[in-house]
Amino acid sequence: MLCLGQEVNYEESRVPSYELPDVLRTESGHQVRSVADWERIRRPELLDVFSETMYGRTPREHIPVRYRVIKENKNALEGKATMRQVELRFEKNGKTLRTLLLLMLPNAVKKDIPMFIGYNFKGNHSTINDTSIVYSENFKLVRAPDHSDWQPGVQASRWDYHRIIDRGYGVATMCYHDMYPDKEGFKEHSAAALFSDFRSAEDAGDYWQAIGVWAWGSSRIVDYLETCDELDKNAFILVGHSRQGKAALWAGAQDPRFSMVIANNSGSGGAALSKREFGERIAIVSSIKPHWFAKNLDAYHDKEQDMPFDQHMLIALMAPRPVYVGSAEKDLWADPRGEYLAAYHASPVYQLYGKIGLKDPYPPAVHDPIYQDIGYHLRAGIHDLNSYDWFCFLNFADRHFRDKK
Ligand code: GCU
Repeated sequence: MLCLGQEVNYEESRVPSYELPDVLRTESGHQVRSVADWERIRRPELLDVFSETMYGRTPREHIPVRYRVIKENKNALEGKATMRQVELRFEKNGKTLRTLLLLMLPNAVKKDIPMFIGYNFKGNHSTINDTSIVYSENFKLVRAPDHSDWQPGVQASRWDYHRIIDRGYGVATMCYHDMYPDKEGFKEHSAAALFSDFRSAEDAGDYWQAIGVWAWGSSRIVDYLETCDELDKNAFILVGHSRQGKAALWAGAQDPRFSMVIANNSGSGGAALSKREFGERIAIVSSIKPHWFAKNLDAYHDKEQDMPFDQHMLIALMAPRPVYVGSAEKDLWADPRGEYLAAYHASPVYQLYGKIGLKDPYPPAVHDPIYQDIGYHLRAGIHDLNSYDWFCFLNFADRHFRDKK
């Protein structure tokens, strides 16, 4: 395949020899041997590297928000779940952003409900065949011209609510366009537009872009969930597929309230190691969607070997919280092996905490999941999020939130 004049490599034998920067070596050359040094020196250094070079800097300005439950159905999923639709209305600098959160809560669990939190791609209505779901303003802005994405349940296969609810977990999902419409020319309608530096700072190389805003938005979802009495505040599980897998890792790196982070098929700029130059490369991912990454990343187009960091360092920023990487066998664009290796090379930081990362430098076989403090599976099939993925995520979550109680 040719893309942006670049031939895409899918041959393992053509992966260049590369050297990964040591996750435990500080910029001044000091070898980190304690949790204290990791947390005091190295962790902040790495957060700064990813802010400066890859995702841009998340502004600290507070954006006031109001919450309003707009619909509730206590008999969803054949009486098994309560479905609640909540408006999160952000207001600042004379601008308003209305976003819609869909909650699905198991009726059988009365308190301490562990929650999966994740964006959907095609609207809350796409996650379930139910005509009571409200369409958000931003979804209406970017919807397909032929309205093919208006159909309730068009992506229900990605949201296995029955399985999740039966296992006693809840879900909070929002359409990712609500926080930042993923279409050229709609930045005015993103959460970034509420901030005082919108426009004045946008030319800066480290100015945040869509992935940064989606990450910020998932933290705002947590702000709301923290106000809900029935939820377990120590079991907020962030899950993201593909471009949202990239955003999930970045959100988890910045916000410790995510007790677990799952990146599914996240690929380039997500879990996959850039220096392998396999499948989608930095020049491609930061050009096909120029509004995803900070402009500073452009300096590394075709120069992955010059990058002073790689994605194992991003995964390491979750430590000591459990982190899970999901790959798919035929998803070569996302480099499944590179996704595994990044998780593997994050392991030394988990070891520092006495946790167990990935022990084997070779990925496991298809459908042979690993559930340590770092988890991983390779699913059969193509780039997608399906019931098998949820089955593994639930097992991993049980291992950490249930078996340890
Ligand atoms: C494109 C892009 C990937 C991304 C994917 C998705 O394929 O190249 O980097 O992960 O879209 O989000 O679906």
